[in-house]
Amino acid sequence: MATIITVTNQKGGVGKTTTAAALLCSLYERGQRVLGVDLDPQGSLSFSLGLDTENCATVYDLFKGRVTVDETITPSRGIDLLPANILLSAAELEFNRTGREFMLRGELAHVVDRYDYIIIDTPPALNVLTVNAYVASDHLVIPMVPEILSLLGVAQIKETIDTVQECYNPKLKVLGILLNKYNARLTLNREVSEMANQIAKQLRTDVFKTVIRSSISVAEAPAHGESVLSYAPNSKPAEDFQHLTSEITSLLREQSDNR
Ligand SMILES: Nc1ncnc2c1ncn2[C@@H]1O[C@H](COP(=O)(O)OP(=O)(O)OP(=O)(O)O)[C@@H](O)[C@H]1O
Ligand SMILES: [Mg+2]
Repeated sequence: MATIITVTNQKGGVGKTTTAAALLCSLYERGQRVLGVDLDPQGSLSFSLGLDTENCATVYDLFKGRVTVDETITPSRGIDLLPANILLSAAELEFNRTGREFMLRGELAHVVDRYDYIIIDTPPALNVLTVNAYVASDHLVIPMVPEILSLLGVAQIKETIDTVQECYNPKLKVLGILLNKYNARLTLNREVSEMANQIAKQLRTDVFKTVIRSSISVAEAPAHGESVLSYAPNSKPAEDFQHLTSEITSLLREQSDNR
């Protein structure tokens, strides 16, 4: 059975898509069976991994009941993806029936035995798409950038997580907060790390030991349809994402041993 991890933060530009693509790529390199789910109408995860979403079936078609999950899964460079494009932006208006929170969970149930990890990328919002991701997931990873403004708004995400835990998915856990675009030389970064620890406490989790350093190679990679891991494997962020993958897999092992 796959472990399902959602990468989430309602703040834009904090590295959700970069992290989702890197996790998929490094887990795949390690021989794991992975499925990426793009739940963002911007389609950035699909694009970043080299998919043209103009002519393929997408999560929108899947939620509309026009296609099956097997018809929607599209491989790109060996990695299976459920792609998204701008049509998904109608989700909030169009998917208003009872049980709409369970659309993704219902679909993933058909394929969960075929994968080791399912990684979900979400839009910078707390909406029906994000809730679908939380309802379908075992764990959340929350990337943040070390800027004071990016750390505000934790109350809203906490409220959404609490609601999903209470009403739909009691097993949902925050696996950790990930500091991205980190520069250890800046004092501000250190102050922000302290603040991130406080936020982690509120969300009953920890800040990951691994931080992701900045590098221009991260911004260049999507244009080549690749994760930073395959585009610039020797860059600092690629090294950091490999460490993060190891940290996550060992955390998951510890948690399943303790159960
Ligand atoms: N470690 C890093 N070093 C340098 N640039 C980075 C790093 N992480 C992310 N970026 C850049 O920051 C921008 C935002 O990253 P990304 O698209 O992953 O964020 P996001 O949270 O998914 O954004 P959105 O909320 O719009 O979906 C991108 O241009 C990306 O290349
Ligand atoms: Mg994104």
